[in-house]
Amino acid sequence: MDNRLIQFAIIDPHHLTGDFLHQLQHLLNLGAFWAQGRSIDDLAIALKNSEPIVAVWDKHQLIGHARAISDGVYRAILWDVVVHPDYQGRGLGRKLVQTVLSHPKLARVERIYLTTTHQQEFYQRIGFVVNPSQTMVLLNQSAQSTTPLRVCEEITQH
Ligand SMILES: CC(C)(COP(=O)(O)OP(=O)(O)OC[C@H]1O[C@@H](n2cnc3c(N)ncnc32)[C@H](O)[C@@H]1OP(=O)(O)O)[C@@H](O)C(=O)NCCC(=O)NCCS
Repeated sequence: MDNRLIQFAIIDPHHLTGDFLHQLQHLLNLGAFWAQGRSIDDLAIALKNSEPIVAVWDKHQLIGHARAISDGVYRAILWDVVVHPDYQGRGLGRKLVQTVLSHPKLARVERIYLTTTHQQEFYQRIGFVVNPSQTMVLLNQSAQSTTPLRVCEEITQH
């Protein structure tokens, strides 16, 4: 496959389209085990509160996504980094993360965090190091009106 046809784009969190949200929902269901079954409405809320949001397109098909939440100076965190299974192993994941990191909202941030279950090596190749400080999590039972728990993560800092 030819990477020259692949395009990276910054998505404006205040102008999300239904097509983008539906394609993102599909991509997460396909490639992100931690983000299965997310509703369009909840995805829209999460993305409206994220910047930057980076999308990777093969023509009109969404084949990659990552987003961050940042205070612009001290701390930021990366979420939902995913490349479509058919497009993995071509350097797109690296470029996706680097595009997020070079955005003005993150470019001068002191510490950029992420959580990962299986992809430590991928992130180490990009420059991340294993963080020895402890991570804590609040399973916030009041986050939804129905019983399922939603995860809220807090990272212990020095
Ligand atoms: C993790 C993921 C985003 C990587 O995307 P990708 O496009 O396949 O990665 P790249 O081709 O850009 O790989 C960049 C480098 O990391 C390496 N790498 C990628 N995945 C790796 C893995 N699982 N283990 C070890 N090395 C890995 C590549 O070999 C490459 O190495 P290089 O420095 O020798 O070139 C992709 O596999 C994915 O979407 N996985 C499912 C979702 C997921 O787990 N996301 C991360 C959540 S925290």
